[in-house]
Amino acid sequence: MRAGVLVLACAAACQSRVPAAPPPPEQEVRLLRARDREDVDAMRAHGWELFARVQPAWRAWASSDVALGAPDRRFRALQPFRVGDRVEVETLPVMFEVVLDPAAVAHIRRYGLAAKARLRAHGGRIPEFPREAIAAKLVWYPIKRDRPTTLPIWDGEPSRDDGNPGRTWRRTVVVDGPGTGRGLPLDAFLTRRLVTEDEAAAARAAARDPEIAAGDTVVLVAMHLATKEIPDWVWATYWWHDHPTDGTFAAGRPRALTGAAGNYLMDVAFSATSPRRSDGSPHACMNPWLEARFPNGVHSNCLACHRRAALGAADYLPVTRGDLSLDDPYFTNKVTTDFVWSLALESR
Ligand code: HEC
Repeated sequence: MRAGVLVLACAAACQSRVPAAPPPPEQEVRLLRARDREDVDAMRAHGWELFARVQPAWRAWASSDVALGAPDRRFRALQPFRVGDRVEVETLPVMFEVVLDPAAVAHIRRYGLAAKARLRAHGGRIPEFPREAIAAKLVWYPIKRDRPTTLPIWDGEPSRDDGNPGRTWRRTVVVDGPGTGRGLPLDAFLTRRLVTEDEAAAARAAARDPEIAAGDTVVLVAMHLATKEIPDWVWATYWWHDHPTDGTFAAGRPRALTGAAGNYLMDVAFSATSPRRSDGSPHACMNPWLEARFPNGVHSNCLACHRRAALGAADYLPVTRGDLSLDDPYFTNKVTTDFVWSLALESR
C-alpha cells in the first residue's frame, strides 16, 4: 500500500519535471487525419487553399540564394542528368527559382544552416523547421514581347522509359506576347515582367536563350509548394493548363480562385505511399515541368525524393518509390536537412 503511494507520488513528481509538449496545432491534427484516412477530397481542398494563400505572398519572399547568403541568381537552369550513357539536357527555355517564406529564412539564420560546417555540427539531423515554414519552387517560361511563343502542354502522356521532357509532349499552344489577338493572352498566366537588364541577363543565362530581352515577360508554368504544417511537410504542386477545369487535377478548385490563378491544375502528396494507386503501387505526385523529364519521373513522389535530402547525398536521382526509414543505411554518415534539398545541395 505504502509502496503504491510512493510510486504514485514519484510518477506525479517526475512527470511535472518533463516539460509538457505543446499540443499539436488543430491544423496539424486535421491534416494528419486527412492523410491517415486517405481523404483525397480533404487533401486536395488543402492544396487549393495553400495556392490561394501563398500565390500572392511569394512575390515578397527571399530566394534560397539570399537566404543562404549567396549572390541572387534570380533564375536557374534545370540541371542535366544521365540517362543510361547519354546526358539529358533541357532544350526548352525553362528556368526556376526557389523561394522561402520569412519563417523558413529565420530558421536558417537562427541555426546557421547556410554553412555546411554548421549543418554538420547539428549531428545526424538539423533542427526541424517551424510549423509556419513554407518553401516554393517556381518554374518560369519566357514569352517574347515582339512575337508569339509556342508553349508545350502536358496532357498526361504515358511514361516513357527515358523520361517525358517538355519537347516530347504532343500538344502546344501559342502565347501572344505582343498582344496581337492571335493566341492566348499573357493575362491567362501568373506573370513576371523582366524589367531591368540584370533580370533579362539572368533569364538569358538560365534559359540559354540569347534573344531574351528586358520587356519580355516570364509566365509561371509550374509551382511546387512544401509547408511544414505536418512533420513530413505537406507537398502540393501546380501547373498551367489551357483546359483548367477538366480532369482529376482540376477537382475541388474553389470558386474564389479566379483569373490567371484559376488556370492551374494541382496535385498533392501527404505521404510517400498513400493513397496507393489502383495497381497497388505507391502514391505518385509530380509536376510535368520538373519531374516528368526524369526516367520514371511520371511515377515519382515529392516525399520519396525529399525524404532523402541530406548533406552527403551524391545525387537526388534516380527516382525512387515508396518511403525510406530513417534507419536505412542510406542515412549513414549523412546529415538530413528536414526534407529541404536546397540546404543539402546549396549550402556553402
Ligand atoms: C527526384 C527528386 C525530387 C522529386 C521527386 C521532387 N523534388 Fe522537389 N526538389 C528536388 C531538388 C534536388 C530540389 C533543390 C532545387 C534544385 O536543385 O532543383 C528541390 C526543391 C524543391 C523545393 C524548394 C525547397 C527545397 O527542398 O530545396 C520545393 C518546395 C519542392 N522541391 C517541392 C517538391 C514537390 C511539391 C514535389 C512533388 C510534386 C517535388 N518537390 C518532387 C528534388 C525533387
